[in-house]
Amino acid sequence: MQQHIFVLNGPNLNLLGQREPEIYGHDTLSGIEQKMKALAREAIISFRQTNSEGQLVDWVQEAGRVADTLIINAGAYTHTSIALHDALRACKSKIIEVHLSNPAAREEFRTTNYVSACADATIAGFGAAGYLMALTATLDAQS
Ligand code: DQA
Repeated sequence: MQQHIFVLNGPNLNLLGQREPEIYGHDTLSGIEQKMKALAREAIISFRQTNSEGQLVDWVQEAGRVADTLIINAGAYTHTSIALHDALRACKSKIIEVHLSNPAAREEFRTTNYVSACADATIAGFGAAGYLMALTATLDAQS
């Protein structure tokens, strides 16, 4: 059966490649999207980014209706958004949380996390490769 996978990216991830490359690496978000689509086999990938919390909540709700798996890097909303947490709790898709860096090893404020408790798995600290790991694991689990 053809899988539908949502890949949602939160605030400031549109700046990947320029933003603190010593932390987040040199890959751009569109480069990550292309690599994921190249790996996707017959799965459909809906890849999106927003800087807005409400938009992210709307897309998580949409994922819950149409996607088998949601891969999400919520950026800073990971650490602040109870609205996002509630949307993820209601989401019926399998949820994989991804971070380029390892927030748990950074500033104290990044140790609060409203996403992890709703996720089936978390991949952090592998840079852009974390997105590809999440996708490969998803596809392998279904094959
Ligand atoms: C991030 C980690 C967050 O703490 C930060 O706010 C981001 C990116 C990551 O991918 O490492 O915007 O989600």
